[in-house]
Amino acid sequence: MKLGVNIDHIAVLREARRVNDPDILHALFVASQNGADQITIHLREDRRHIQDVDAYNIIKHSNLPVNLECSINRDILSIACDLKPHRATLVPEKREEVTTEGGLDIVKYEDETLYAIELLHDHIIPVSLFIDPNLEMVEKSKELGAEMIELHTGAFANIYAMLNGSLRHSSHSISELKLPRNELSSRLEKSLDELKKAALYAKKIGLEVAAGHGLNYHNVHEMMKIKEITELNIGQSIVARSVFSGLAEAVKEMKRLTTR
Ligand code: PXP
Repeated sequence: MKLGVNIDHIAVLREARRVNDPDILHALFVASQNGADQITIHLREDRRHIQDVDAYNIIKHSNLPVNLECSINRDILSIACDLKPHRATLVPEKREEVTTEGGLDIVKYEDETLYAIELLHDHIIPVSLFIDPNLEMVEKSKELGAEMIELHTGAFANIYAMLNGSLRHSSHSISELKLPRNELSSRLEKSLDELKKAALYAKKIGLEVAAGHGLNYHNVHEMMKIKEITELNIGQSIVARSVFSGLAEAVKEMKRLTTR
């Protein structure tokens, strides 16, 4: 399985102060030294984390392939064509959303998606489409000429967290949390089944298959069972974990510097 490490959240932390700390290129270096197979970044229209200069520097300096997530907005596409990442992943984008919610509706936005794919192909950039796990979307991805799909695992991840974690008792924005447990169990089965069927069909018709969104240290084993999925793109849980694997050392170091 290829691991794409999404480093957007390092830039989220940096943007909180707008100084170059933490340094995004340092994140690239650490990820590449520790087993990442790919770096994934999302140049959002509102530039809430990754900036144009970050994307440029990451693509220029990375010794790993860089997967650039971008919307089908023409200004963003034109930047992607100039940047020439290893691959572009087309994702939906609404300014008000907290993160990417749901896959790109390539049936509704067929013309725009086709335009984006052809433009990127003209610039020799392979294209992946971030879609919901259903057969219609998979088939349309092939028809539109994409090389790859990334299955949206957000629905699966939310239900998994509801069933197996303490999310129910914390503040959250997940409406399904109000459902009874037996209903959640059958929804988890259903979401896994959809992912499996979509992955199998995609592989059968010649598409490469990635998955991502909301994957973490608890739920990732379920993705490992789907052999047609050959790449995972994971961000938030890795950056969240790194805070705690590094916090003790960070406090100790500051205590040392502030001890007379
Ligand atoms: N894959 C895609 C296409 C995404 O848009 C995102 C979120 O930016 C991810 C993977 C990573 O999701 P997460 O941060 O929840 O691991």
